[in-house]
Amino acid sequence: MKVKTALELCKERLKGCKIETYERDCIFFIAHLMGVHPSLLPLEEKREFEYPRELEEFFKKRCEERIPVQHIIGEWDCLERTFKVFPKVLSPRGATELLVETAIGLIEKSFGKNPIWGLEVGTGTGCISVNLLCQFPNLRMVGVEIDPIAVKNTIHNAKLYGVEDRLTLLEGDIFKLCPKELKKFEKFHFLVSNPPYIAEEDLDKLPPEVKYENTLALNGGKGGTKFHKFFASHCDRILKEDGFMVLEFEPFQREELEIFFTAKGWQIVFVEDFAGNPRILIAKKC
Ligand SMILES: C[S@@+](CC[C@H](N)C(=O)[O-])C[C@H]1O[C@@H](n2cnc3c(N)ncnc32)[C@H](O)[C@@H]1O
Repeated sequence: MKVKTALELCKERLKGCKIETYERDCIFFIAHLMGVHPSLLPLEEKREFEYPRELEEFFKKRCEERIPVQHIIGEWDCLERTFKVFPKVLSPRGATELLVETAIGLIEKSFGKNPIWGLEVGTGTGCISVNLLCQFPNLRMVGVEIDPIAVKNTIHNAKLYGVEDRLTLLEGDIFKLCPKELKKFEKFHFLVSNPPYIAEEDLDKLPPEVKYENTLALNGGKGGTKFHKFFASHCDRILKEDGFMVLEFEPFQREELEIFFTAKGWQIVFVEDFAGNPRILIAKKC
């Protein structure tokens, strides 16, 4: 069959088993099999499709096991780069691209060509640190990650993009490392994090695709703000005087974060996504 027919068949099957993202999933899966970027798939539609067995396996994984397409193909894009996604490690999300872009803008504005030190908490695939390291040759990052598979995933992607020499990874729990262990480094110019921020009480309600990912990457404690509040309370001592934090969160957490951070003496700004929802918190010490 032709690629175009395979695409139509795929979409019909996924739609039939109520996969909301059926169009996108089929494009990404078929493009992955053919070794082309998804955006270029329309140019391949007249080609012969040689992977019917793989397509059947895809239906099984996607429809019956509800494994997200990112995990079936084992890679996903974050800005202009493609990142390997290891099993159960959180795959890059749209809001995280906004976090990286926000951090890039702030770093460009705040620091010149002198050495810059950044800290990332919860590196996952490494999509934040690796994008920042690629952008700024004068940047060195320290990453803290509790999940050993995610640590390997970050290292893999750092090597893929040739920035592993400027990334120090600590496998461990930020609640134990900050600030004590991190004081051994230079003071940081900034802290970036897309921490686990799903409210513990909402974890059961998540779709099976999200539940497939490691709970460690999702569970943000009561109200989902455990990490943000910890950074505001304990991580200021490891930041330089004019240092800042850039953190991702859920829109409904905005008010709670505003009250907490302000009470702790932080000056804050929220950045909204395309839909006008606040997703990124920038915090500076007053
Ligand atoms: C929401 S994911 C973000 C991953 C990646 N930075 C991204 O944006 O795609 C949060 C990450 O924090 C890690 N994590 C969870 N609890 C942690 C802790 N106590 N200390 C350090 N890392 C932790 C998880 O394993 C997971 O990789």
